[in-house]
Amino acid sequence: MKLADTKATLSFSNGSPSVELPVYQGSVGPDVVDIRKLYAQTGMFTYDPGFLSTAACQSAITYIDGDKGELLYRGYPIEQLATNCDFMETCHLLLYGNLPNAAGKAEFTRRVTQHTMVNEQMQFFLRGFRRDAHPMAIMTGLVGALSAFYHDSTDITNPEHRDISAIRLIAKMPTLVAMAYKYTVGQPYMYPKNELSYAGNFLHMMFATPCEPYVVNPVIERAMDRIFTLHADHEQNASTSTVRLCGSSGTNPFAAIAAGVACLWGPAHGGANEACLNMLEDIQKMGGISKVGEFMEKVKDKSSGVKLMGFGHRVYKNYDPRAKLMQETCKEVLAELGLENDPLFKLAMALEKIALEDDYFVQRKLYPNVDFYSGIVQRAIGIPVPLFTAIFALARTVGWIAQLNEMIGDPEYKIGRPRQLFTGSVKRDVAPLAQR
Ligand code: SDX
Repeated sequence: MKLADTKATLSFSNGSPSVELPVYQGSVGPDVVDIRKLYAQTGMFTYDPGFLSTAACQSAITYIDGDKGELLYRGYPIEQLATNCDFMETCHLLLYGNLPNAAGKAEFTRRVTQHTMVNEQMQFFLRGFRRDAHPMAIMTGLVGALSAFYHDSTDITNPEHRDISAIRLIAKMPTLVAMAYKYTVGQPYMYPKNELSYAGNFLHMMFATPCEPYVVNPVIERAMDRIFTLHADHEQNASTSTVRLCGSSGTNPFAAIAAGVACLWGPAHGGANEACLNMLEDIQKMGGISKVGEFMEKVKDKSSGVKLMGFGHRVYKNYDPRAKLMQETCKEVLAELGLENDPLFKLAMALEKIALEDDYFVQRKLYPNVDFYSGIVQRAIGIPVPLFTAIFALARTVGWIAQLNEMIGDPEYKIGRPRQLFTGSVKRDVAPLAQR
């Protein structure tokens, strides 16, 4: 980051001495006022719950321009990556900062492929869950449990440990998600088949059985690969910030990623794709498109607590570029499967059209986000709704790891320790029980 010519001056109406604060510039996007010395100079904290105006770190990985609806991974527009690259190239880009050439891609893919199996002991963790356990409950447990198997590579300050942990996590997430799925449907786990692509292998472990050959459909394989790319990273979102804060204590990468999985589960974040699909199915049950108007009235009536899931975003105040690409993928998959008339897709398109013309949404700059269409395409592929967020976690693991490694690799990093505005009781004495 670069020191800007301008400085920020903080002055106080009570005559306290004003404070000069440095301003830093990044390569693109808003400048930052450096308040690191504010408390020492003024005895005051800043106040920003929800971090609406706070840059918690500097990063060179992902840039979002919310007003333009622009998303860049290491400078490359998501539209170009989703069209011209695959998820393995995207992983290499996010982790190491550049798109690999053919040899580099082959080597990276080989390294990932060599780590797709999990220790046989992992299956015994699953046995402790009920068969109807939510896949995200299983994933939160399994990902954390991985740290029990790699004592040789959990020192986050060791660059080799960071790199092998990154490869292991990227390689094993599909295996774990597929195991979580197979466990809930009572089918045997399918081992990875290393001659398949990353996405093809995942589809195989999800839908193949030992009883008959399973052929990966190339259109579905490409769609799955694109879903992974679209979810791979997204700046300092809630789960990435969780991974950074968790990792800042020096804990091992598996534990930090498990914290990210837990945070992503929330319906305001990664859980929105499951919530969005359930919302569409509820409207369908109520009567479908004819009931959209009634549903929208509920959404606009704040007292109802009903939100249009898959809409709105803290950063995007324009169309989420991932939603456009996801809608395209949706159309391709539905066409391939002969589901062009899928009622939920038609319902989603109708909802989007109405919302984008409705003042309530226009005024609040609420547009479809990545979760609005992702559920429809995953459901068409045959993925059960409760598994959607686990697939989001699978894809986001590379982003979490890249962000964690960027933080740990920064010599300036410290353990994250926010302060507070205390509004509780001031000091008072304990009265003996008989006098309370
Ligand atoms: C993801 O941060 C990331 O980058 C996340 C993510 C990633 O890749 O990591 O992009 C993935 O989490 C996408 C978001 C998925 N969540 C949803 O789709 C859930 C529905 N969306 C909302 O819960 C909401 O839009 C948030 C949580 C996404 C953003 O909330 P903000 O930024 O705190 O905005 P807000 O709640 O202050 O909303 C501003 C206004 C409010 O109304 P007013 O107080 O101004 O009258 O818009 C309203 C909100 O009530 N609003 C909605 C709405 N989202 C916001 N009203 C109806 N439906 C919605 N979906």
